[in-house]
Amino acid sequence: MAVERVLSGMRPTGNLHLGHYHGVLKNWLKLQHEHECLFFVADWHALTTHYDTPEIIEESVWEMVIDWLAAGVDPANATIFIQSRVPEHAELFTLLSMMTPLGWLERVPTYKDQQEKLASKDLSTYGFLGYPLLQSADILIYNATQVPVGEDQVPHIEFTREIARRFNHIYGREPGFEEKAAAAIKKLGGKLGALYQEARTRYQETGDEEALESAQALIEEHQGLSLGDRERLLGFLEGGGKMILVEPEAKLTPASKMPGLDGQKMSKSYNNTISLRESPEDVTKKIKTMPTDPARVRRTDPGDPAKCPVWQLHEVYSSDSTKDWVQQGCKSAGIGCIECKQPVIDAVLAELRPIQERAAQYAEDPTLVKNIVADGCEKARKLARETMREVREVMGLNYS
Ligand code: TRP
Ligand code: SF4
Repeated sequence: MAVERVLSGMRPTGNLHLGHYHGVLKNWLKLQHEHECLFFVADWHALTTHYDTPEIIEESVWEMVIDWLAAGVDPANATIFIQSRVPEHAELFTLLSMMTPLGWLERVPTYKDQQEKLASKDLSTYGFLGYPLLQSADILIYNATQVPVGEDQVPHIEFTREIARRFNHIYGREPGFEEKAAAAIKKLGGKLGALYQEARTRYQETGDEEALESAQALIEEHQGLSLGDRERLLGFLEGGGKMILVEPEAKLTPASKMPGLDGQKMSKSYNNTISLRESPEDVTKKIKTMPTDPARVRRTDPGDPAKCPVWQLHEVYSSDSTKDWVQQGCKSAGIGCIECKQPVIDAVLAELRPIQERAAQYAEDPTLVKNIVADGCEKARKLARETMREVREVMGLNYS
């Protein structure tokens, strides 16, 4: 489609750390300059796994928003909001649940995987089974076209596409659809109408994606069409009925290469993180006590950076010349490990300093943060209401 709308959410279940920054947040910072972006706190999703520790969620919501802002998510470029403040998500979730086959939910791989991984929690709940559908509602309610997610979430986007398709198939078939589509083509005018027809035929006969996209662009750019006609023409292109819900695409977030303090991927569950608000003293201490190549028992024992988690941090933070210095110095026992760690400490502190300065400013001004979120919620709600009006109508809920 001509205009991209990006949407992504994050669950408020604790402090954000450098892994989040190098993985998700830097990606968001880039996207906010390229497309319309909506970023939200998925507090209901957090409750699906943390329903028995609501205090964690309560604490984490504002802190997470502050972390986003501190990292550089800009409310002038991105709409920032909280899922539960846009209750339309829950309404769409309920309505979609009516037409969601149980087997589709049971087959989503994260369902069983997470139950096994988080075996200490009782996740045999209705809410947890519905997790991907709630996510679908989050996405579909904004007609988002691009959803930046990690690899583990791709099945949820696939699931969302299937839900959208099923919904459009069931509810997009208004009486007299073909006639209405024909009338809408007339409204395009002779020349554009012919172009549309040509592209539609080409797409339907040969699967020519370019033809599809050119016809979609033609409709998007046409000023004189009503919303209903626009959707009819978009739906008619692909053969079905009106396209009410848009099928989103997963936009794979490049896997974070951020290693943790022990060389495994940085993750709260490995207890190897540096949080975005970690004090400089703690950052220093954490890096100073990182394990190194076990072969370097004494200062005079040579080592191998390939066997050392500190080296992995050099790979993220250090210049080529520093990396050469490490390789040489480690293998020849020319440098000690404490010495080797100093450039990493300096780099992490330099990266965190501006983030922490901004975080402190926002933390001191809770009203500002709340206003940013209130503003975002209002913008989001306006979009969500538009979708819901139409969903209610096609599902027979438009009583007067
Ligand atoms: N399930 C996502 C995660 O754990 C969070 C999420 C909820 C989300 N709703 C979303 C992500 C909608 C993208 C779009 O990371
Ligand atoms: Fe690791 Fe550096 Fe020590 Fe080598 S010198 S073992 S790379 S910390």
